Amino acid sequence: MTNTGTECLLLGITGGISAYKSVELARLLVASGARVRVVMTEAATRFVTPLTFQAVTGNPVHCHLFDEEYEAAMGHIELARWADQMLIAPATADFLARMAQGLADDLLSTLYLASSVPVSVVPAMNVHMWRHAAVQQNLSVLASRGVNILGPDSGAQACGDAGPGRMLEPTDIVAALGSLNHRGMFAGNKVLVTAGPTQEAIDPVRFVGNRSSGKMGFALAEAFVREGAEVVLVSGPVALNTPPGVRRVNVQTALQMHGAVFENIKKTDIFAGCAAVADYRPELPEGQKIKKTSERLALNLVRNPDILAEVAALKDGPYTLGFAAETENLAENARAKLLAKKLNMLAANPVGDNLGFERDDNSLLVIWPGGEKQLPVQDKGALAQSLLGILEQQYQAHVGHVKGS
Ligand code: CTP
Repeated sequence: MTNTGTECLLLGITGGISAYKSVELARLLVASGARVRVVMTEAATRFVTPLTFQAVTGNPVHCHLFDEEYEAAMGHIELARWADQMLIAPATADFLARMAQGLADDLLSTLYLASSVPVSVVPAMNVHMWRHAAVQQNLSVLASRGVNILGPDSGAQACGDAGPGRMLEPTDIVAALGSLNHRGMFAGNKVLVTAGPTQEAIDPVRFVGNRSSGKMGFALAEAFVREGAEVVLVSGPVALNTPPGVRRVNVQTALQMHGAVFENIKKTDIFAGCAAVADYRPELPEGQKIKKTSERLALNLVRNPDILAEVAALKDGPYTLGFAAETENLAENARAKLLAKKLNMLAANPVGDNLGFERDDNSLLVIWPGGEKQLPVQDKGALAQSLLGILEQQYQAHVGHVKGS
């Protein structure tokens, strides 16, 4: 696999001034390890010569549908079969229209129809053309058929206008292709993450709560999505935006979190209990605001259900990852918690003394029945990504073990 995640890439060049940038694009794609074959439209050859692309890719450039020499070497159907992926950059307004219409009047448009591999287009045109309803409608048609539309950039244009329509820079195109093709460590897995604090009502205006910001759980949910998982995030009250691609369920109390988790637990492969669930709740919250009439006030608290332990006890339940926030004896307490709750993995972090809660960074001691790993202090996003690396290894071993037993 290459940086772009593809082996054989068919690079289509259509006739726009930004075709000159595609020379650098072809060079970067080759440097990333892809095998690149270039197909040019007639108009594209007026901007850059096929010879330039041949020199950069080390492969002959294909320009004509009915070219006896090329058809003998590699026919157009064969070329369509050869490709793992098609990238058309630049894609002019005219070529996008021909794709949307399904025309097959030259080699590149024929290849588009003849192949069934993923197709990405990088539009490049004048800002007014880009904004035209006809162009936008063609793009909608293509997007609805699954074509990836990369860009455009906004800024100064070759024609002197400014605005959206510029072709993406070659480095950005290569990066975008890389993320499109990145299937991820948890592709096909369903993951449920709990995050944030819970708030347990004392009366209509007061609650028992804690200082969890939810940042670790949100970073974890985001990392899981990046790695291809389908993620449900059950969150207590936090001031954080929902990471893109995550399905968020908002709750306030531990009992509500318990309900939301068990509503969504079916078919979950991995459960990550990242929430700082209140262990106790006021037994009988007052219906009205409590007045300060007495010198002392006692709160009668009752235990909340332990969501993580209940999930871990499910027959054929998910792989369970717990978290433990500890102010002392981190490793010892963590191992005891792993055993007591019968978890597959536990990530323990020190709290107190300006550590843990309400911060952007943290460290984690990750333990599982057969081992442990210390992750040093780092940003919670990076920490989540490192944690997923360990989790993936252990999860795969666990799945293999369950299947084998
Ligand atoms: N947890 C949970 N439900 C609860 C309490 C905790 O799901 N009612 C989960 C947390 O999300 C976390 C793990 O359990 O993943 C550890 O929580 P923690 O409060 O540190 O552990 P406790 O078992 O409550 O132990 P203690 O408070 O005594 O340290």
